[in-house]
Amino acid sequence: MATAIAHPNIALVKYWGKRDRELNLPSTSSISLTLDKFQTRTRVDLGVEMDLLVINGRTVTGGEAFRVFEHLDLILPGRRPAQVVSESNFPAAAGLASSSSAFSALTVAAMAEGGHELTPEELSVLARRGSGSACRSIWGGWVEWRRGSEPDGNDSHGVHLAPPEHWDVRMVVAVVHGGRKKVGSTEGMLRTMATSPMYAAWVASYERDLSQARQGVLDKDLGALGAAMERSTLKMHATMMTSDPPIRYWRGASVALMDAIEGLRSKGVGAWWTMDAGPNMKVLCEAHDAGRVAHTLGTFVQQVEILAPGGPPRLV
Ligand code: PMV
Repeated sequence: MATAIAHPNIALVKYWGKRDRELNLPSTSSISLTLDKFQTRTRVDLGVEMDLLVINGRTVTGGEAFRVFEHLDLILPGRRPAQVVSESNFPAAAGLASSSSAFSALTVAAMAEGGHELTPEELSVLARRGSGSACRSIWGGWVEWRRGSEPDGNDSHGVHLAPPEHWDVRMVVAVVHGGRKKVGSTEGMLRTMATSPMYAAWVASYERDLSQARQGVLDKDLGALGAAMERSTLKMHATMMTSDPPIRYWRGASVALMDAIEGLRSKGVGAWWTMDAGPNMKVLCEAHDAGRVAHTLGTFVQQVEILAPGGPPRLV
C-alpha cells in the first residue's frame, strides 16, 4: 500500500468554467497558493478483494465513492480492487479547497501503489481529471495552472512559479460556515456557462488579472497581487450571482468581513480577501500582519486559522 499527504491550495486568480467537461479543461488559467497545516492523508491499497472507501473513519458509498473509484479507473486502467482510506483535518466541501488536497493525495498515492514513477507535470495532468483545482496542489507554494490548448489536455497542468519559502505571507482563514455547500463546483460552473450573461466577459478579461498576479508573486508586491485577486474573485462571483437560478455563496458575515478588511487597509495593513464556492473568507497578508488580521476576523467569526505557504505532496 502507499500513503500520500497533500495540502489544499487557494486560488488567487480563479478557475470557473470548463472548455471541456469530460477532460476537466478550464476556460481560463489560474494562480494559487498551496497552504500548510490543512492536509489530506490518503492510503491506497490494491491488494484487497473489493473497492472500499473510508473518509474520516466512515465508510462512504454513493456519488462520492463513485467519483473516487472512477478516478482510479482512469489513472490506473485495468486496476485491481482498491481500498482507499482518507483523512482531512479541515471541513470538506465548504469552499476551503478540500477537493484539491483530496484528489492530489489520491493521485500521488495511487500512482505510487500502481508502481508508476511520474513527473510532477504528469501527476498534475492526472490529478486535474479528478478535480481541476487538484492539479495545482502537486507543487508547494505558488503555482500557475496554464489552461493549455491541446485537445487531449496534456498541456493543461500546473507550472511552478515559486516555492513556499519565496515569500513569507499568511492566508488567514475565517470560517463563516463549515457546512457543505448547496451547489457543487462542477454543477455551478456548468450553470454559469449556460446561463450567465457575464460569463463571456469573465473569460475575455481574465488575462490582465493573471499577468498582474503572476508579476505580483514574482516581485513580492502584495498590493498588485491583492488587487488582482480581489478583482478576479469579484468577477467570478458576479458570474455565479447572475446565473439562472442564481448561485450565491456569500452570507451576511462574509460581507461584514469584506468591510473589516477594507477598514484594515485604510489603516495601512496590507490585507486582501478572496472567497471560493462557499461563504468562508481567506485573507492574504504579510506574516508580520497575520496576528492583527486574525484578531479583526475573530471579532466576527468563531474559527480563524493562520496558514503559511505549504509544501508539495509527499509519500509517507
Ligand atoms: O476544481 P474544483 O472543482 O475544486 O473547482 C474549484 C473552483 C474554485 O475553488 C471556486 C476556484 C479555484 O480556482 O479553485
